[in-house]
Amino acid sequence: MEFHYVTDSPLATDADLLVVCTYGDPAKDALVRLLDQSLGGHLLERAKAEEFAGKPGQVLYTDRMNGSGGARAIAVVGAGEMNGFDAGKLRDVAAAAIRVARRAGARQVTLALPPVSPKQSDRAVQLAVEGALLGSYRFVKYRNDDAKKPDPIATVKLTTERGKGSGKKAAKASSHSKSMKAAIERAQRVAEAVCLARDLINEPAAYATPVRLADEAKSLAKKHGLGVKIYSPAECEKMGMGMFLAVGQGSDEESRLIHLTYTPSKKAKRKIAIIGKGVTFDSGGYSLKPSQSMEDMKTDMSGAAAVIAAIAAVAQIGSPYEVHAIAACCENLVSGRAYKLGDVLRAMDGTTVEINNTDAEGRLTLGDALTYARQKVKPDEMFDFATLTGACVVALGPHTAGVMSDHEALVQAWLAAARDAGEDMWRLPLQPKLKEQLKSGVADMRNTGERFGGAITAGLFLKHFARDTPWVHIDLAGPSSTPREMGAWTRGGTGFAVATMLEYLTR
Ligand code: BES
Ligand code: MN
Ligand code: ZN
Repeated sequence: MEFHYVTDSPLATDADLLVVCTYGDPAKDALVRLLDQSLGGHLLERAKAEEFAGKPGQVLYTDRMNGSGGARAIAVVGAGEMNGFDAGKLRDVAAAAIRVARRAGARQVTLALPPVSPKQSDRAVQLAVEGALLGSYRFVKYRNDDAKKPDPIATVKLTTERGKGSGKKAAKASSHSKSMKAAIERAQRVAEAVCLARDLINEPAAYATPVRLADEAKSLAKKHGLGVKIYSPAECEKMGMGMFLAVGQGSDEESRLIHLTYTPSKKAKRKIAIIGKGVTFDSGGYSLKPSQSMEDMKTDMSGAAAVIAAIAAVAQIGSPYEVHAIAACCENLVSGRAYKLGDVLRAMDGTTVEINNTDAEGRLTLGDALTYARQKVKPDEMFDFATLTGACVVALGPHTAGVMSDHEALVQAWLAAARDAGEDMWRLPLQPKLKEQLKSGVADMRNTGERFGGAITAGLFLKHFARDTPWVHIDLAGPSSTPREMGAWTRGGTGFAVATMLEYLTR
């Protein structure tokens, strides 16, 4: 799929399909009105008959063009009401638009973006290209049916022009064209990274083992010039990573600690670690999950997939920071060697932890990964990304990640990046009173608290290992995968948090 930014009036396009993105009432949209005029009132008549109100996901399609010139067919796609610039909505509406175009079998598509201020047109185009690419993502590796057919769409012309067009505006836009080209390229990098994360998440656990993820990391490092170090269980043992190793010890798949490094050509402004939970399958261990809860647990490495994909894109886009991606990968299974309830583990930092639930394994792997980062990398700031708790999904729903931190400035900077990237993240308090729940009678801590506040006790457990290093915890148990298509998300892994990481690390 090729993308071009154009400044011609959408009315004059000769594309197979013109898709118009509109906010709310189509009768108030200048471009829809112009198109309606050229169709003798057919478009708005049809909108009325079909109760098209420009709501998200609504589509109005017509190929009755009365020989009026211009596109061969028109689709109006709703973006819902816009309160200010909303990155997520822009990406979502472009994804909806591209799906309409695919269903219509269009090869040449002109995409008229919703009205944004000229200052924001680069951003809008970036998000639209991301949306188009993400919305057409499909995981077809294991399918024999027609899902393997190539996408019919060859070229997408994007325009922010919504009137008849004027030479003056075109001149202004062409002086913009360099930044516009950069915006399109950036979008392609971002989308590629998100899709790479999705691919890794969507692979069955039998394929995406810790060793396979490490191999993937190695080949990405080679391709993009990243530093790479992979640690075997014996090497992790030497470093004292007793929590991380305990989780993987019940599996025949060997655990791997992955560490990728991006070093900027100029002196780095800061050192930033991004750490991902990489449980390639979470059965729950002896605190076994019921079948339904286990069904999607191949996605329990979404955090690892996200940090690996993100650092590969950082290498291509460039960053002023030294970036370290760390993923502690293992499989949480049941066997004669598996860790048990009542076991006392010794963490890399010396903390002893009593296990009262083997299904609270993510925090064990991450606790040691945080210590590894703190001791070996000594970052100025670190972020962890984890499908950590069902409680977080209960609290915030499936679209929103929970963000926890006691570092005010860092968490605000992170949330601002999430807003700009159009990913839904919401802060939860690290309520210190809940620490009580992690007290143990036989060890320094136990790994699980009570039911209420479960996302927060998990955060507090991690905080113990982050110590005084500025740190933000992102619980993505909700948005890491989706059972159905939603905006720019397709069924399966979403690649959530990659876009925000790239916003934070490379903008
Ligand atoms: N991987 C799960 C969390 C999860 C749940 C991710 C749903 C995605 C969707 C995690 O390891 C887990 O099992 N957490 C437990 C913690 C509990 C035992 C304290 C949970 O949420 O039930
Ligand atoms: Mn678990
Ligand atoms: Zn888990």
